[in-house]
Amino acid sequence: MSEKKPPQYASWTHGKLPLPELAEMKRRGQKIVMVTAYDAPGGRLADAAGVDIILVGDSAAMVVLGHDSTVPATMDEMLVLTRAVTRGASRPLVVGDMPFGSFQVSDEKALENAIRFVKEAGADAVKLEGGGATLSRVRTIVDAGIPVMGHIGLTPQSATMLGGFKAQGRTAEKAQRLYVDAQALERAGCFSLVLEAVPPPVAARITDALSIPTIGIGAGVECDGQVLVYHDLLGYQEGGPRFVKQYARLGPEIQAALESYAADVRSGVFPEAQHTYGIPEEELALFETALEANERPITTARDLDAG
Ligand code: KIV
Repeated sequence: MSEKKPPQYASWTHGKLPLPELAEMKRRGQKIVMVTAYDAPGGRLADAAGVDIILVGDSAAMVVLGHDSTVPATMDEMLVLTRAVTRGASRPLVVGDMPFGSFQVSDEKALENAIRFVKEAGADAVKLEGGGATLSRVRTIVDAGIPVMGHIGLTPQSATMLGGFKAQGRTAEKAQRLYVDAQALERAGCFSLVLEAVPPPVAARITDALSIPTIGIGAGVECDGQVLVYHDLLGYQEGGPRFVKQYARLGPEIQAALESYAADVRSGVFPEAQHTYGIPEEELALFETALEANERPITTARDLDAG
């Protein structure tokens, strides 16, 4: 029998990973591992696997709730999912992704919603997409003591404005915009920055220019860490963006298991005796007698003795 390998923690094996440890990991050249999760088992498994950060992404709208974009995700949905993940995970930092509409209106509204992630869902930090107007939201939330992760490049909440789910920063001008936004987000107080679908040389220059860690998704190996969507890396379905590497093919495995279950139910192979509960012989005999006599069933043998 093969021995179970312990989780490969990058650092800090006891208790919650302290937030400043992430910048230290960047300094030491230790890669940061981030993955999304949306429920307690996902949080527990990511923790057991030694993941450093769990993002409860608004990608939930697509991979869990069946929408075709992240835009419909609501605060209430994100809070339920985040609460479930924080119940399952203890060591990784849990970041709640602020959904579209929860931070665009004003700094005050953004802060109110960020506070809900921390107070109601137990999140350690929140993530906000974009530069520009997002900067004052970041400052306001950080000033209130809530850590913020930034997210630039392909920002799915504004995919329509960006012309679809497309790589970003592919012209000198757009790459420079990202470079400037990244530095502004660091100055605004972000503790780390997601770079999504950005050419690797651009991501590398941004990473070099920042003292906070960059977490790449489709942004190359020079980023300080990587993130993938849980359902993508586990292979719940075929296809997906080119930056996804599938580490399992759970979709076909789950479907095969469900087909076997359906076949067993239909043929009467399931359940077997081992899946059922016993009743003492004498209780069963009394039950049968009561039914035969068409009387009210006697509750237990002790009732008979008492009678
Ligand atoms: O919502 C999400 O899962 C994300 C990651 C892809 C970074 O924002």
